[in-house]
Amino acid sequence: MRIPVALDKAYRLLNHGPVVLVSSAHGDARNVMAAAWSMPIDFSPPKVAVVVDARSFSRQLIEASGEFAINIPCRNQIEAVLKAGIASGRDTDKFAHTGFKSFAGHRIAAPLIEGCAGWLECRVITEPHNEAAYDLFIGEVISAQADDRVFRDGRWNMTDDNLRTLHYLSGGTFFATGDAITVAPD
Ligand SMILES: Cc1cc2nc3c(=O)[nH]c(=O)nc-3n(C[C@H](O)[C@H](O)[C@H](O)COP(=O)(O)O)c2cc1C
Repeated sequence: MRIPVALDKAYRLLNHGPVVLVSSAHGDARNVMAAAWSMPIDFSPPKVAVVVDARSFSRQLIEASGEFAINIPCRNQIEAVLKAGIASGRDTDKFAHTGFKSFAGHRIAAPLIEGCAGWLECRVITEPHNEAAYDLFIGEVISAQADDRVFRDGRWNMTDDNLRTLHYLSGGTFFATGDAITVAPD
């Protein structure tokens, strides 16, 4: 049976891409927020897109610095990920609030979040219309790292349940990535 899906819930059919943490910094300020709406959009040079709400503190830091990092968190960070997606860095120190520790990136000032499975350092490719109309930010990935327990030789290999990536549904519910399924081409 096919059932109709209310248009205001239709996005949830696509919502379970990996939830990421967008980290940012400008001057003395630094921040981290959860984002379910991100995606790769080009191979070379590599580019990604992410939706960053106009009311968020992250948006202010990203616009001021022209940089952001995408951190890909794991199942064992789930509580902190949700906290990073509820509180705002405008009135809370998100690092104290979530317990996230950070380390320095190679190319940008935004802090990278310890314990994640992967990290993409991005420079904003300014597209004023997309940013203003859709809160959509495009970034060129200028440095990338991954935890070799889960990503090696250019591939994910998630066998440790604690290190599986997370996929957000809604209302505080996530999926953890399941087992890989490989199909041989004909
Ligand atoms: C799991 C999850 C996913 C989220 N995805 C997004 C997103 O893709 N884009 C966005 O702008 N906000 C998203 N949010 C909301 C922001 O994380 C939230 O507004 C946050 O408080 C912004 O923090 P800031 O003001 O410190 O930047 C998400 C929240 C959660 C819990």
